[in-house]
Amino acid sequence: MPRGYFITFEGLDGSGKTTQLRRLATTLEAEGHGVVTLRQPGGTALGDRIRSVLLDSKSEAALGPIAPAAEMALMFADRAQSIAEVILPALSDGKIVLCDRYTDSSEAYQGGGRELGSERILAMHAATCDNLQPDLTLLLLPPLESSLHRARRRNSRHIQQHGTDENRFEREGRLFYERIYKKYEEIALREPHRIVPIRDEAPIEEIEDCIRKIVSTRLANRTS
Ligand code: TYD
Repeated sequence: MPRGYFITFEGLDGSGKTTQLRRLATTLEAEGHGVVTLRQPGGTALGDRIRSVLLDSKSEAALGPIAPAAEMALMFADRAQSIAEVILPALSDGKIVLCDRYTDSSEAYQGGGRELGSERILAMHAATCDNLQPDLTLLLLPPLESSLHRARRRNSRHIQQHGTDENRFEREGRLFYERIYKKYEEIALREPHRIVPIRDEAPIEEIEDCIRKIVSTRLANRTS
């Protein structure tokens, strides 16, 4: 069975990964690759429902505080659904799958940020995702300060335009984000073959170029 290629984008809120994912998708499509993009949480009908529970800051008013373990389990319910419904079918069809966040986000945010620890996240990954690992993870990790600044700006724009706060996570304090940052660094050290960290604070086009080179080398090595 032909096997496609599974690429994930990771980083803090405001790290610029969503822009880079879109640009890479356009490039790969122009080169003639079949490309499927999705984001987590979300990307399926079930996932979109889970996303609105998890991210909308109004959820807490309606449901009360979400327990960290419940948050973790919902992230994995979303992920299991998108693996079954989108990722595996696309990979077995030979497509390149670009996914905006995956299990590293759970390890960084719930494992690190919420302090559940890596072990629980990795056990959950084994139990619900059949241990499906990306072939390549692009980790956008510019200095913490600049990500926080961009995320806050984006969130206040969203509040002005829509009257709602799209992201419960973006209201968290600095220590929460420091723990996430640290956990991402730890994961990158643990899995250097899969994860390529990009730490520069370069203009969008430069990072795009760097990502394009990394991906084309990986794809060429895959087929050689
Ligand atoms: P999103 O609006 O997609 O933010 P971004 O553009 O920064 O990715 O919101 C996703 C949020 O969900 C983000 O704050 C990280 C969080 N998240 C987790 O806490 N755990 C997870 O497993 C995933 C996939 C996301």
